[in-house]
Amino acid sequence: MLLGALGGVIVAVLIGGCALKGGQDISLIQGKTLFIKNCASCHTLARADAKGVVGPNLDWAFAASLQDGQGRSEIKGIVESQIEYPAIGGVMPKLPLTTREAADIAAYVGYAAARPGKDTGLLGAVGQVQSVSAVEKNGVLAIETNPTGQLAYTAKTATATAGKVTITLTNKSGVPHNIAIQAGNSGATQGSTPVLGHTPITPNGVHSFTVTLKAGVYTYYCQVPGHREAGMWGTLTVKS
Ligand code: HEC
Repeated sequence: MLLGALGGVIVAVLIGGCALKGGQDISLIQGKTLFIKNCASCHTLARADAKGVVGPNLDWAFAASLQDGQGRSEIKGIVESQIEYPAIGGVMPKLPLTTREAADIAAYVGYAAARPGKDTGLLGAVGQVQSVSAVEKNGVLAIETNPTGQLAYTAKTATATAGKVTITLTNKSGVPHNIAIQAGNSGATQGSTPVLGHTPITPNGVHSFTVTLKAGVYTYYCQVPGHREAGMWGTLTVKS
């Protein structure tokens, strides 16, 4: 799936702004890929599966613009200038994107914002990462963050044997994340049980911590505000 997205990027370089079979513009594929990588940690956009809550929900923001009679090309223009000139002293950073990259992202947001339904074909495949189950081996439980930038681990479930377990998080997304663990099955909400251990919050790298676990159910999750609520958590079952 990820390969499909990268393939799209390579094709984009070769044939510029041409439409693919089925009428999908490759700048949309490139734009969606870059949106997930650079924007999804802070913004919600349903078609991109983006669930960030730091900035405004872009479906809601632009549903209002569409209702006020603005067209999708105007939305594209608003997004382009927001990327180019984020408010001074605001939370949104000035990102190191080329004019072309900003235009592709804006084209995708202009296309996708507040548009009912789901992306299909090659565009639908962008950002989709196959879900796996993590299994502890020789005392090590290895978990990865979604490499495309979505607020998720690739494993929604994990299993381990009771005893000392080293939990390792690999983060290649460029988005700040960590992994923490607490007893119980509290899902997306902060449970009442204490945090048993966690790695540091970093945008890239491999970090781990070791805990002694009894048989039972635990929840692992990201401690960056808003990430757990967006779905960045999973359930660990420990067997005796
Ligand atoms: C670190 C979090 C963060 C990232 C990353 C980020 N934004 Fe934002 N964005 C915000 C916040 C917060 C605002 C509200 C204005 C402010 O505080 O700067 C905002 C405002 C916006 C707005 C204006 C929405 C409105 O209602 O007027 C748009 C459009 C936007 N961002 C698009 C993007 C795009 C596209 C990207 C990726 C290239 C992106 N943002 C990356 C946090 C972020």
